Amino acid sequence: MATKILVTGGTGYIGSHTTVELQQAGYEVVIVDNLSNSNIKVLDGIQAITGIRPAFEEVDCTDKPALKAVFEKYPGIKAIINFAASKAVGESVQKPLLYYRNNLDTLINLLELMPEFGVEGFVFSSSCTVYGQPEVLPVTEDTPRQTATSPYGNTKKICEDIITDAVHADAPYKAILLRYFNPIGAHPSAKIGELPLGVPQNLIPFVTQTAAGIREQLSVFGDDYNTPDGSCIRDYINVVDLAKAHVVAVERMLSGKSLENVEVFNVGTGRGLSVLEIVETFQKVTGVKLNYKIVGRREGDIEQVWADPTKANQVLGWKAEASVEETLLSAWRWQESLAK
Ligand code: UD1
Repeated sequence: MATKILVTGGTGYIGSHTTVELQQAGYEVVIVDNLSNSNIKVLDGIQAITGIRPAFEEVDCTDKPALKAVFEKYPGIKAIINFAASKAVGESVQKPLLYYRNNLDTLINLLELMPEFGVEGFVFSSSCTVYGQPEVLPVTEDTPRQTATSPYGNTKKICEDIITDAVHADAPYKAILLRYFNPIGAHPSAKIGELPLGVPQNLIPFVTQTAAGIREQLSVFGDDYNTPDGSCIRDYINVVDLAKAHVVAVERMLSGKSLENVEVFNVGTGRGLSVLEIVETFQKVTGVKLNYKIVGRREGDIEQVWADPTKANQVLGWKAEASVEETLLSAWRWQESLAK
């Protein structure tokens, strides 16, 4: 019988790609999602790629009785991957309590239910935001975490601490915290991808929507940073590569390979790219000219960050494989497919 995995937020951007990789690795997936920032049609895309429609429950993870009913309906869930969270930095500054309520209640409900239902492993979506602007680059997992600059970032830090405390208090499960750098791109089939609601806040969906003529102009936020071309530098990680890191993390916990009960891994490529390099590469691989303009800095942006992924490479046996060229092309193919 296939090992059952609960994927919260499984119709979202990273959750849907991870569901595909889990199914292709032979796992059975149960998705719970409240559809607050995703569309039920994503299930069609997952099914079109894998031939399997994952079980789906429309449940808000902050609703503990409803969440408990999911564990009762699907007995034998072995691991949880928790993507269900609010993730917009700017919105979190406007609505901090919403962010603390959603992200913390979801986590605590899941952790409380795990022992009751014999769940053995927990993967948490953390973020490189916990490092703030590091003094030394690239960042390793030992780079000190800094005071968060947004309630969103603070929820990631607090959730990491809650998980660590719970596991250290002899919880009967293991956890892996994955610190994502900047996930971009779409499945190469162009059947699933990022579906931002309203005006995109993140770079790549804004780039593809500008290229598609949905947005008039891309604003490049600042060219006076202390970087080679003056624009900010990030570590852009292909979403399918990122999804695969979750499969490896689940396998590691369930096969008893974890060296510690809580392990932390950076999930990045190890390569930093500037906003202007992204713009140039996008134009080169797609042949589409981007209307962009350099504007002032965006408040709260850090100048540069990229990962040292050595630990994930060596300990997890995972490595980012896709080139930025193919990743940007996949994002564009996805954008084009939305117009059809
Ligand atoms: C932010 C968060 C990250 C979070 C992610 C997802 C921080 C430091 N980072 O990443 O934790 O997981 O959002 O929501 O809080 N840019 C433009 N024009 C645009 C949009 C972006 O020039 O229209 C630039 C930004 O200034 C930045 C880069 O593109 O330098 C990437 O921005 P974005 O995609 O928003 O991600 P982060 O801010 O790095």
